[in-house]
Amino acid sequence: MPDAPIIAQKAPFPVEVTEGKSYFWCACGKSQKQPFCDGSHKGTGMEPVKFTAEESKKVFFCGCKHTDKLPLCDGSHSRL
Ligand code: FES
Ligand code: FES
Repeated sequence: MPDAPIIAQKAPFPVEVTEGKSYFWCACGKSQKQPFCDGSHKGTGMEPVKFTAEESKKVFFCGCKHTDKLPLCDGSHSRL
């Protein structure tokens, strides 16, 4: 069983993404480079989630790690 993710922050991380570029969202919450993976998930049983930007715009990556719409914020942080 994977561990439960750590809540990095109870709010999303706004990021200006670039069309065609891929991003690896930290699912475990342990990364020091939030909201992205820095390899700290080793041993947690969790893996980063790949996000490929379909257009250049601002997106809100989930910071609480409890969203149902990985890797983007769906408002679940308000219930934690
Ligand atoms: Fe959290 Fe990689 S550091 S998923
Ligand atoms: Fe996780 Fe909003 S920050 S659902």
